[in-house]
Amino acid sequence: MSIRHFGLALLLVPALQAQVTTTTLHDALLAARADRAGEPAVAAAFQQLAKEHGTPLYIYDQRYIQGQAAALRSAFAPRFPKLRILYALKANTNPAVIGLLRAEGIGAEVVSQGEIETALKVGYQGTEIMFTSSSKNPAEIRRAIELGTVLNVDSMDELGQVQAEAHRQLKQARISFRVNPGVDPHTIHQINTGIAESKFGLHLQGGLAFKAYAAAKAMPEIRIEGVHCHIGSQITETEGYTLTATKMMTFVKELKEKLGLKLDFVDLGGGLGIPYTDGQTLMSPEDLAKALEPVWKAGVATLGYEPTLWLEPGRFFVGGSGFLLTRVNTVKETPIKTFVNVDAGFNTLMRPVMYQAYHRVRVIGRTQDVQKVDIAGDVCETGDILAEARLLPKAKAGDLVVILDAGAYGFSMASEYNARPLPEEVLVEGNAVRVIRRRADFPELFRTATSAK
Ligand code: LLP
Repeated sequence: MSIRHFGLALLLVPALQAQVTTTTLHDALLAARADRAGEPAVAAAFQQLAKEHGTPLYIYDQRYIQGQAAALRSAFAPRFPKLRILYALKANTNPAVIGLLRAEGIGAEVVSQGEIETALKVGYQGTEIMFTSSSKNPAEIRRAIELGTVLNVDSMDELGQVQAEAHRQLKQARISFRVNPGVDPHTIHQINTGIAESKFGLHLQGGLAFKAYAAAKAMPEIRIEGVHCHIGSQITETEGYTLTATKMMTFVKELKEKLGLKLDFVDLGGGLGIPYTDGQTLMSPEDLAKALEPVWKAGVATLGYEPTLWLEPGRFFVGGSGFLLTRVNTVKETPIKTFVNVDAGFNTLMRPVMYQAYHRVRVIGRTQDVQKVDIAGDVCETGDILAEARLLPKAKAGDLVVILDAGAYGFSMASEYNARPLPEEVLVEGNAVRVIRRRADFPELFRTATSAK
């Protein structure tokens, strides 16, 4: 990994400030976010990045990630004395990004053996990892038990397999169950996970979750440590969480009263939303902590003991840290629309196409001749539109366009579709740029094809 200091002394003139300040590349990222990407100094910063690293390029802002970790901790730690925060690796699996969060004292929540191996590579112990997936294969179960990882069990079938494997290894498997609480947090359908029709978890409804705990309790190979739920992603209001917390605490009490179980932790999942549009206001960590506090305290009072509250956000930590820098290949006017064709597509950033997700777009170094355009990707599919009907300053071939809030589920969902090598990722700290994943090259496209010479 190379660390390079950005050679350019940036002169940024903040919108409402007359004096000239010497600032950093980090400030250029903030300026782009604040819709000042047209300013020459901001443009110079992005042009330099594109020149040195090529496009499409994922740029992450280290201070943003650290700031999000601090904000979550300072909202929750004073209210919840027994607290453990994990990072859902799936949002951004770059080891440098995970390492930043690990340095903040945050644990790892993973969904596959690949993510387990990544967490270990970053320095986590197996015992610090929580493994959630509704479909774990035998190798994954074996590895998790070997490492002493908490398996977040999703079905009775899985429980049986975990028991058999633990028996084979002459070990006790550490488990929690993922519970489906039947709560709708009002988010996009594809990322709504805690509703009754979702594939995830053991339903509270019909006593399925209770039966799972009763069965597990009778198994000497199983050590029950907690309970888990995750109701969805990009959640913007507190109600879904408070309703879920109430149901979970009632369930934990039922487990204590009827089965004599005393759980170490209650994991309320991730899902904290971030603003994707200018001026959007939504639930802050402080709002969420405040809303959960009375529900939690009431639950603890009736339980007679305090489990550790676990949270496991992904997007919240990294989403806003990420900028996808792309270059305009061509601009095309049709009788219906104007297309700005860029060198990234849904192979680079899947979210707009998969979820009709909105990401803010800034044209670098341009402020004039605002027109309505579609930012079209370079994948050969009609649907490959990254941003639709946006009013943006007129862009020309060779211009740079930056897509905001691309730090979560951006690179981690990227593919080599259309035989395009995976993009580079860089981490910005102040004025320093660190390459945290180099750009893939063409031979890497056929690295695993055994028929290629
Ligand atoms: N825990 C579990 C069990 C999860 O399934 C997820 C996300 C998280 C935690 C973290 O959720 P977050 O805090 O990031 O919302 N690709 C979609 C999001 C899928 C989320 C899947 N599960 C997107 O781009 O919006």
